Amino acid sequence: MPSAPARIGATIAGMGSRSLFDPLVDAYDAARPSYPDALFDDLERLTGRPIAGADVVEVGAGTGIATRELLGRGARVVPFDIGAGMLGRLRARTPGIPAALGDGEALPLRAGVADLICYAQAWHWMRVPVAAAEATRVLRPGGALAVWWNDVDAEDERWWQRQQDRLEAMSPGYTRGYRTRPYADELRWTGQFAEVVTLAGRWVRRLDVDTYLTWLRSKSYVAAIGDQEQDFLDAERRSMLRAFPDGVIEEPFRTLLVVARRP
Ligand SMILES: C[S@@+](CC[C@H](N)C(=O)[O-])C[C@H]1O[C@@H](n2cnc3c(N)ncnc32)[C@H](O)[C@@H]1O
Repeated sequence: MPSAPARIGATIAGMGSRSLFDPLVDAYDAARPSYPDALFDDLERLTGRPIAGADVVEVGAGTGIATRELLGRGARVVPFDIGAGMLGRLRARTPGIPAALGDGEALPLRAGVADLICYAQAWHWMRVPVAAAEATRVLRPGGALAVWWNDVDAEDERWWQRQQDRLEAMSPGYTRGYRTRPYADELRWTGQFAEVVTLAGRWVRRLDVDTYLTWLRSKSYVAAIGDQEQDFLDAERRSMLRAFPDGVIEEPFRTLLVVARRP
């Protein structure tokens, strides 16, 4: 794939940051979880091709958590994001990478250049019909759009329920149900794809309370609490130490991977 920045210089000139995540970049970089190896094995299984050697466009790449996993598995990755601050951190961590400002709904790329377009924890920011059409334009025939998430899988835990109650009370517009969209069906309904398949996995991370609170601070809906954010974090510290008195939090995750193949 030709170098993205060389082709898109004119497009990005003058484009300012539009990302809610730019002010959160330090917390994001310090405490967001990566993705388990099994997710990338599933990605190869569902796309039917190895990641190694693939031309990958990654949208909403942020600080590069998934980018580094894809690079480590031998992909050629061109990352895009609308956040200059997030991309700055990605470039600092992966010098020389052709990361560029770009919107998933209007990518500054020629048609038919990618084997795979990935959105790690980012597809829910898109208008599905627009971004799906853009993905099929940029993909080669037979290529795939892959979207995935790490979701906390703790619906039965008191600490999780207390946290969701607090968020729904304090963060404008937040509802715990935002994670339960029918992503695979939404992609089928676009009529753009020959096949849409999903796989789920489970894993657990262990982390100390300070890192956990930093992770909470990296979330856009926690930042949206505004003046009361410190009250929220103080309540979370008390709640998590009640649930995990030794200070080591066991946080269960469910990964959801959806792969849509272009005809
Ligand atoms: C939750 S972060 C995910 C970052 C990274 N992929 C990861 O796995 O940690 C979502 C990212 O999507 C970016 N984003 C939001 N809307 C976008 C759009 N329309 N086009 C490109 N990136 C977008 C944000 O700036 C942010 O960096």
